[in-house]
Amino acid sequence: MNPQVTIGKTTFANPVLAASGTFEFGLKFKSVANRLGGVVTKAITLQPRVGNPPPRIYEFPGGMLNSVGLENPGFEVFCREVVPHTRKLKCRVVVNIAGATVDEYGELAARLDSEPVDALEVNVSCPNVKEGGALFGQQPSVVEAITTLARRRTTKTVIVKLTANFVDPVETAKAAEAAGADAVTTINTLFGLALDGNGRPFLGGRNGGVSGPALKPFALFCVDRVAAAVKIPVIGCGGIMSTADAVDFLSAGARMVQVGTANLVNPEAALDVWNGLKAHAEQNDLGNWDAVVGRTRRRS
Ligand SMILES: Cc1cc2nc3c(=O)[nH]c(=O)nc-3n(C[C@H](O)[C@H](O)[C@H](O)COP(=O)(O)O)c2cc1C
Repeated sequence: MNPQVTIGKTTFANPVLAASGTFEFGLKFKSVANRLGGVVTKAITLQPRVGNPPPRIYEFPGGMLNSVGLENPGFEVFCREVVPHTRKLKCRVVVNIAGATVDEYGELAARLDSEPVDALEVNVSCPNVKEGGALFGQQPSVVEAITTLARRRTTKTVIVKLTANFVDPVETAKAAEAAGADAVTTINTLFGLALDGNGRPFLGGRNGGVSGPALKPFALFCVDRVAAAVKIPVIGCGGIMSTADAVDFLSAGARMVQVGTANLVNPEAALDVWNGLKAHAEQNDLGNWDAVVGRTRRRS
């Protein structure tokens, strides 16, 4: 079995990634990170961000809402203090980037080009910031403009992380593909609102992003549609808690999967998903993932 997956210039040892924002920079659980295909970092912005006021997490049966608001140390501190450590990881390191303006994406892509990281995940889908974020990702023309800029200014693999908030991700996936993206991640969290029982918003940032098992059926629906509409690989994300979930996403057409909220429950969750996938491949005598990827469309 050859478990590797190649996206753009980057070959991942296996198809399982830790999703952005749920595994920090992969440094707290290195023994887990080292055995994954890769780690997607928390979003990095040009300037440091303090993020949204607390509370930032709201749990409900079936999932959670988060309103972290892209808290991060900023590009310079990331490169100076984090990258020297992430470069020693044995897995691929994908840097999730978020711009407050369209131009900032180009700037981040250009500056990261000379850093020892493997790929960029262009985040046009954060639901809990006032400027940019999902507002960018809702407009195919803006997705195209941002992807074009990133593509022009980096030689690294470019992955665009899509939103499905009030937009058909097929349209934005096509825009990203036309602008030269190597892959799309489908999907980021969905908008959500939690109240405190007295009619006031529970989260300090007011609105949040829904993640976890509740997201899975819709995320799977999006992957199925997007994978049928574009030629570039789709990375499935949304509610993957188990190997069975990951197999579903591959079946729906994803070439790779990202495990997010599950990491917050169990820091070994992504590794468990990978070990289960490996066992699945052995049991079914798979030479690679081709027989599984996209089989839903071949069977329906
Ligand atoms: C606490 C938290 C922080 C997140 N931060 C980011 C982020 O910085 N950038 C990003 O693109 N996605 C971020 N996400 C979204 C996840 O990467 C993922 O797309 C989403 O949670 C859906 O997958 P899941 O249901 O497996 O969690 C965050 C999610 C959570 C729960």
